[in-house]
Amino acid sequence: MLNFSFELIFILFITKPQTLPSYVEFMEGDYLLPRMASINTPLRIAVLISGSGSGLNALLNYQRISRPHITSLIVADSEDATGLEYGLKSNIKTIGIPLPHISDKHQQRLMHEELINTELIKSNIELIVLSGYMRILTPEFVVKWKGRIVNIHPSLLPKFPGANAHRDAIKAKVTVSGCTVHLVDSGVDTGHILAQKEIQVLPEDNIKTLQEKIKKIEHELYPEVLDLLSIGKYHSKSSG
Ligand code: GRF
Repeated sequence: MLNFSFELIFILFITKPQTLPSYVEFMEGDYLLPRMASINTPLRIAVLISGSGSGLNALLNYQRISRPHITSLIVADSEDATGLEYGLKSNIKTIGIPLPHISDKHQQRLMHEELINTELIKSNIELIVLSGYMRILTPEFVVKWKGRIVNIHPSLLPKFPGANAHRDAIKAKVTVSGCTVHLVDSGVDTGHILAQKEIQVLPEDNIKTLQEKIKKIEHELYPEVLDLLSIGKYHSKSSG
């Protein structure tokens, strides 16, 4: 009995999924996950971007056929993020929300997030998908959405968190890297890991080639994890 319990605790809390989990996962933490959706009742997603939006484009292509999630809003943290083009070409509401002109930096972040939050509410958003969104969300914002914000990071977390994951991986001379999809908490790339995918790092790889390789697997992994999350394959203690 003792052995069985230990094994169960190990499976549920200590192992980290290296690939898509095919089991229902119980995770620690006070994450309130989105409702269980289906192709007929898809989750309404907002995608937040800052840059080129290749991940957004991959997701929009994936959603060309019916999925249990649908992109209903696209937000960039500036009006000239090049990825906004993908949204503008679709029939999806697409907006750039730059930082408001407020000198106090903390107030500026809060106010910016408030502007974004207003749009999320207006569009009845149920899940926030960070896709190359380069701003760190405040705990005040995260607490409102905890369990309903996901991010993709270009490393095998907990290795190489932060804005320079590729540079750090090359510097560390790793032979394997990859990407991680995780729930967002108020730390930097510290939230609960949902899935990871690996690639080989070759001696001749540099930041640019590594970035390209990782983006390729990101574009496969992220939509698949969104499928699983949308159909209720992940459970948290808070969601029962
Ligand atoms: C991705 O590699 C993602 O992991 C990181 O930023 C990049 C976004 O690229 N957070 P893009 O804007 O989707 O092309």
